[in-house]
Amino acid sequence: MGSGIGRLRLYNFRNYASLEMELGPGLNVLVGENAQGKSNLLEAVATLALTRSPRAGSPAELLRWGSEEAAVDAELTGPAGSEKLGLRLRRQGGAAADALRGRVARASLIADRPVPARTILGRCPVILFWPDDLQLVKAGPDARRRQLDTLLCQLDVLAADELARYRRVLEQRNALLRRLGESAGDHGELGAFDEALVRHGARVQAARRRLVRGLAPLAAAAMTSLSGGRDELQLRYRAHGEPETDGGSDDEEEIARRLAEALRARRAEELGRGITLVGPHRDDLEYLVDGRAARSTASQGQQRTAVLAAKLAELRYARERSRRLPLLLLDDVLSELDPRRGAQLLGSLDEEGDLLQTLITSTDQPALGSRAARRFVVRHGMVTGL
Ligand SMILES: Nc1ncnc2c1ncn2[C@@H]1O[C@H](COP(=O)(O)OP(=O)(O)OP(=O)(O)O)[C@@H](O)[C@H]1O
Ligand SMILES: [Mg+2]
Repeated sequence: MGSGIGRLRLYNFRNYASLEMELGPGLNVLVGENAQGKSNLLEAVATLALTRSPRAGSPAELLRWGSEEAAVDAELTGPAGSEKLGLRLRRQGGAAADALRGRVARASLIADRPVPARTILGRCPVILFWPDDLQLVKAGPDARRRQLDTLLCQLDVLAADELARYRRVLEQRNALLRRLGESAGDHGELGAFDEALVRHGARVQAARRRLVRGLAPLAAAAMTSLSGGRDELQLRYRAHGEPETDGGSDDEEEIARRLAEALRARRAEELGRGITLVGPHRDDLEYLVDGRAARSTASQGQQRTAVLAAKLAELRYARERSRRLPLLLLDDVLSELDPRRGAQLLGSLDEEGDLLQTLITSTDQPALGSRAARRFVVRHGMVTGL
């Protein structure tokens, strides 16, 4: 018996007016032409599991144009029985509200009862792989921080809380810095924010460092196997301003000391620029191929293989760490990979066993060989089984 999502329902989510479908365990392939709703469907699943969309700028974008309410529901099956997860979105401010940026109230449900959003995190761990991810090595550090935080929040509830608190403090502190910059106010006010920034920031950084320490050997092993032993991959957490050679401690107190020190050193600059320049919101996840920074020295192919290896590491780490099997969402990735890497990815998934539920979207039928898969066609916001 596999585990994962069985029945899935969407209501007014993006271009889906109303959808009800039954996913299979193992591979599910969703084929359709461009702009039919393939990515939207994966986004719906991810939004339910993560309680927010991994790609929308604002939750208002998720509501079907012209509608006031949207819903996503999934029945999860697992070894311990089944469980119903739900997400409700409701536009605030009535019809006059800005259709794309207006306020939207979110509610997460378990067994039809509202629960705090954090309760949902990790119930159905999802590993996402979008075509954009293939550029992760070359992208800005924010994309790589997001890569870490998405996994972290699903595996470590306390870290998810710390991250939320850190973001709030950061926002408030930035607002205060701007005010102080404009009108030389009372700098003493900053003290309380500094203290909170350091406290939550140190916990966030420590949790991310622990995560990277867990991911790194898995990513290295995946790289060795994907490259046929030719290339070596190292993942390394790099705190902003940290010297390259520094391995970095994941001791919270040590991190807090460094953060506090860095804050003091850059106080004048922060006031001048009206923005917080120190903290984990500026850190990075470094990819090193054969010991060198991959973004500047690795070839395109090596960079893509490194991302693939990191994604497999995320999947395997989530499997080790979570009591629930992760769900893999592959949006259009196979068509973006050359046939050899595509086959390697599928081969690596075979090693995970048939129990791993995977949703694959593609514009063409992907080459799955003799693998069993449930197949669907996506057209105009409707899905039909084949
Ligand atoms: N809030 C919304 N309400 C209604 N339709 C929307 C909304 N947001 C996006 N769409 C529409 O959904 C369509 C399908 O988008 P989606 O990204 O899922 O396509 P896709 O099948 O993944 O296509 P591609 O193969 O090009 O990636 C888009 O053309 C877009 O116009
Ligand atoms: Mg798409």
